[in-house]
Amino acid sequence: MRTHYCGQVSEALLDKTITLCGWVANRRDHGGVIFVDLRDREGIVQIVFNPTQKQNFELANQIRHEYVLKVVGVVRKRPAGTENLQRKTGKIEVDVTELTILNRADPLPFSVDEYADKVSEEVRLKYRVLDLRRPDMQARFQFRAKATHLIRNYFDKNGFLDIETPILTKATPEGARDYLVPSRTQPGHFFALPQSPQLFKQLLMVGGMDRYYQIARCFRDEDLRADRQPEFTQLDVEASFIDEEFMYELLEGLMKTLFKELLQVELPDTFPRMTYREAMLRYGSDKPDLRIPLELVEISDLVKQSEFHVFAHPANDPEGRVAALRIPQGGEKLSRKEIDDYTHFVKQYKAKGLAYIKVNDVEKGVEGLQSPIVKFLKEDVLQAILKATGAQNGDIIFFGADKSKIVSDTLGALRVKIAHDLGLVQEGWRFLWVVDFPMFEYDEDAKRWVALHHPFTAPHVNALETLEKNPGACLSRAYDIVLNGTELGGGSIRIHDAALQQSVFDLLGIEKEQACAKFGFLLDALRLGSPPMGGIALGIDRMMMLMSGAQSIREVIAFPKTQTATCPLTNAPSEVDEAQLKELSVAVKKQPKDRKE
Ligand code: AMO
Ligand code: AMP
Repeated sequence: MRTHYCGQVSEALLDKTITLCGWVANRRDHGGVIFVDLRDREGIVQIVFNPTQKQNFELANQIRHEYVLKVVGVVRKRPAGTENLQRKTGKIEVDVTELTILNRADPLPFSVDEYADKVSEEVRLKYRVLDLRRPDMQARFQFRAKATHLIRNYFDKNGFLDIETPILTKATPEGARDYLVPSRTQPGHFFALPQSPQLFKQLLMVGGMDRYYQIARCFRDEDLRADRQPEFTQLDVEASFIDEEFMYELLEGLMKTLFKELLQVELPDTFPRMTYREAMLRYGSDKPDLRIPLELVEISDLVKQSEFHVFAHPANDPEGRVAALRIPQGGEKLSRKEIDDYTHFVKQYKAKGLAYIKVNDVEKGVEGLQSPIVKFLKEDVLQAILKATGAQNGDIIFFGADKSKIVSDTLGALRVKIAHDLGLVQEGWRFLWVVDFPMFEYDEDAKRWVALHHPFTAPHVNALETLEKNPGACLSRAYDIVLNGTELGGGSIRIHDAALQQSVFDLLGIEKEQACAKFGFLLDALRLGSPPMGGIALGIDRMMMLMSGAQSIREVIAFPKTQTATCPLTNAPSEVDEAQLKELSVAVKKQPKDRKE
């Protein structure tokens, strides 16, 4: 129907007759002349209706916002002084010679050129068709399409096969609840939607496919946040006969390509690596944001002998930790109220309090310090703390003292919050590999060991004997790729030996029968000649969110779910017919009217 996109009309087409199709972004009547901004995927161009063209002009009078038009016209230079240099097509306009109204639009729930933040997200999602017409949304989806194209090219060039894996399948343990689908043909039986293609990609390796990748949809029924959706997309990768170094190089190469092609950013050839232990000690997080120049300092040893019980108790507890976080010039910048707010903030991480010392004058010893806790600490301990943290006049030092996990969570989150509040976050793209994760974590509530990644992750070779003797000390061959404080992806070298896989199931308390029922097919496959293998999965939505500067992954997903995992556009999930339930042998206990919005 058209010869050009609106956004592509330029001076190169002067005096040419062209045909455009698009939506009415704006209409203005100016002394008998009607100006319309016509919008399509590529941009906006101004089209002009003159009263001399009587029939067109009368029709143009009917035009309203978001009507769909087809116009034939001649490209003209705009009269001097009427150019719009903000706009790509701002030097020209199109004199319309033929107008067809292809479709009309009802009065709009919101105007497409209104900024998104003036309209509630619920409304944006309900009228997603209008929302998607906005130029920033158009740009994001063009960006995403370009990215997935580059990803496919990259893996194809490196000899990876794009292979699809089932959506109707069995549960894969990635730590979330499953979405279940009742089977009609097997009453009382359910499929699970995959939390990831993990088991299938391992089977593909046993099946000799050697190198696999997939842009795969995954489903996880978990609590939603800005960077989580119930269904999301992974770039899923697996390869045989490889080690960690292969994966690091592969992913570094991919990121370099994507950043160069999409953002014109030159990333370093290799990304830094840090052990999980170091990340927790220095940043209180397994996904540290390296743009933030603040670090935790361990002071357990300094306060072991102290009479201040709040510090001495965790300092002497093998599972405890006492750490300090120095905020340069924080003593000057933070008000009493802000400190109180932070004390409140850390409660969500189970901290019992937030001790602090304001450093007014280092030279003056105790006299130069302002704090509710100096009275409990001896001068030499205080001096040692000032020295260890490198305190300067005007600083504030915050303290965490508790079980290690609580202290790390607390100070790790505080570090990020204060850095954002005080504008300390530096510019740039800081990638990091976090390596040497513990294999297992003790779940205090369930009173058992759980896999920190998934139970198919290989232990370090030298950790084999430790596995049973001291599971907590056993490190895994897992790695996470972190960007600016967000976990982009994670992966590992896998267990390819059936006996070792069985011992890990044993350790996790997965009974033989249960292991057989759940993962028997994996154990069987491992016994049929499994190659050593490893892989990784990257959250594509998260990656697109970060790279396009969006605040939430919902901005880079065409039809996302709300925070309560519903779709305002289709109203899913919804009730189904009694007959359909019967066919599926499913009885509903709670009626849908109980559904929480
Ligand atoms: P993992 O569970 O770490 O690993 O997932 C990989 C990446 O997927 C993204 N992600 C999500 N994105 C949006 N919404 C969610 N609910 C969500 N959950 C996860 C994250 C995460 O880093 N099978 C393993 C990978 C492997 O071992 O190869 C796996 O799924 O960016
Ligand atoms: P208290 O003796 O409980 O009044 O605590 C003295 C100071 O230590 C207060 O400023 C508390 O906020 C702080 N505090 C108490 N418990 C902890 C803790 N576990 N970690 C860090 N600071 C704490």
